[in-house]
Amino acid sequence: MERLQKVLARRGVASRRKSEELISSGRVAVNGIVVRELGTKVDPDRDEITVDGEVIKKKEKVYLVFHKPLYCITSKTDPQGRPTVMDFLPQEYKDLHPVGRLDWDTEGLLLLTNDGALTFKLSHPSQEIEKTYLVWTESSVGQKEIKRLTGGIRLEDGPTHPAKARLLEPGLIELKIHEGRNRQVRRMMGALNLPVKRLQRISVGPIKLMELPAGKYRHLTPGEIKVLKGLKGD
Ligand code: URA
Repeated sequence: MERLQKVLARRGVASRRKSEELISSGRVAVNGIVVRELGTKVDPDRDEITVDGEVIKKKEKVYLVFHKPLYCITSKTDPQGRPTVMDFLPQEYKDLHPVGRLDWDTEGLLLLTNDGALTFKLSHPSQEIEKTYLVWTESSVGQKEIKRLTGGIRLEDGPTHPAKARLLEPGLIELKIHEGRNRQVRRMMGALNLPVKRLQRISVGPIKLMELPAGKYRHLTPGEIKVLKGLKGD
């Protein structure tokens, strides 16, 4: 059982405080009976809740994989008016939240969802979810640099954990890291004097970007959702 105002807020009717006002003013009914008492508890799975006679349905959970293009920020809004990842989604998905972030000038896989529990889980450092990046650099890269990336690099906020790195082509590295520190890949590369020309994330845990074009999204499959929810730490 949960407090009525909490359920209303979660279903996007209004903030919790405004939902309390709706209840006090007699606009909310539970199973057809108007409820004005603020402490009222409901069973969100069974009780029918209406506001002004309109049924307030349970929100479906939505899980998207988005291919973030260059030059937009991973945020719901931007006070400076720069484009955000939300600009690429239809209105019906404006209440989703990005899971983690990619820099303004990083492309690639970004998950968005309204499942708060999954967002929390995937963002928590203890989860150590592996993220794979393709890193293009102008400088020549040898086995010495690959070894250093793999072993861990001293950054201002502490050494990085061991990573997996391999040279795919001259100047193109595949890097797999478990942490999600701010600008981590760029800072790791910077520490080796390897300026990043282009950075693209191609996977987060079991989810892969594949052929999804930049600026487009797709829904996670039920199988992908299941695997994400079942990752270590549940
Ligand atoms: N590391 C970075 O430096 N930037 C990103 O956007 C993601 C990982």
